[in-house]
Amino acid sequence: MNTRIKAFVFDLDGVITDSAEFHYEAWSRLASELNIPFDKEYNELLKGVSRMESLELILNRKPEVNLPTAEKEALAARKNDHYKELIQTISPEALLPGIGKLLEAIAEAGMGIALASASRNAPFIIERLGIGHYFQAIVDPAAVPQGKPHPDIYLQAAAELGVAPSECVGVEDAEAGVQAVKRAGMYAVGIGSEKVLREADYIVPDTSCLKLENILDRIEN
Ligand code: BG6
Ligand code: MG
Repeated sequence: MNTRIKAFVFDLDGVITDSAEFHYEAWSRLASELNIPFDKEYNELLKGVSRMESLELILNRKPEVNLPTAEKEALAARKNDHYKELIQTISPEALLPGIGKLLEAIAEAGMGIALASASRNAPFIIERLGIGHYFQAIVDPAAVPQGKPHPDIYLQAAAELGVAPSECVGVEDAEAGVQAVKRAGMYAVGIGSEKVLREADYIVPDTSCLKLENILDRIEN
């Protein structure tokens, strides 16, 4: 069992709960309102990426559309309205399989837990899931200079927990997220497809496969 690791830093959307699916639905709705093609494959590029950057990626698909900033902000706000409508239904039952047990095992082992989500809706979702008491830090994505794939939000999480990045495990479902974890110098656990998450140190197909001992056993001291 590894003794170097002192904390876990979690992404939210697609890791703790299936809200990545709600982001997808909300962007799909906006894209169809704008008559822009959008599908699950393209959506992979948006995962972990901020609201405005995601909008830019969607608008890039229609290069002839050149909108002023105020209009882009209105579109991003419209997507967020769609999204907020969808997340109202979130309750503790929406925790992804194995996540409740994992959080409990980490806490029982005396390790720190932080959230490094790019979403400004994260505090609302954590509250709806009833898991706020596990987190010693929830990093405000607006307070870090650069979003994922830059490491800033993960470095900030380690700083807020008072541990070194090399003492942390980062848990992610997105390519940009895994890159951020690796650039921060943390051990990266990826949830999802090996093709998308190839930079991760350990990849599991879904959250039900996440077990604290299995993760720690794989990490060298
Ligand atoms: C990330 C999601 O967690 O948060 C992205 O993976 C999303 O899909 C980003 O765009 C920003 O979220 P929000 O809720 O602030 O629009
Ligand atoms: Mg995610």
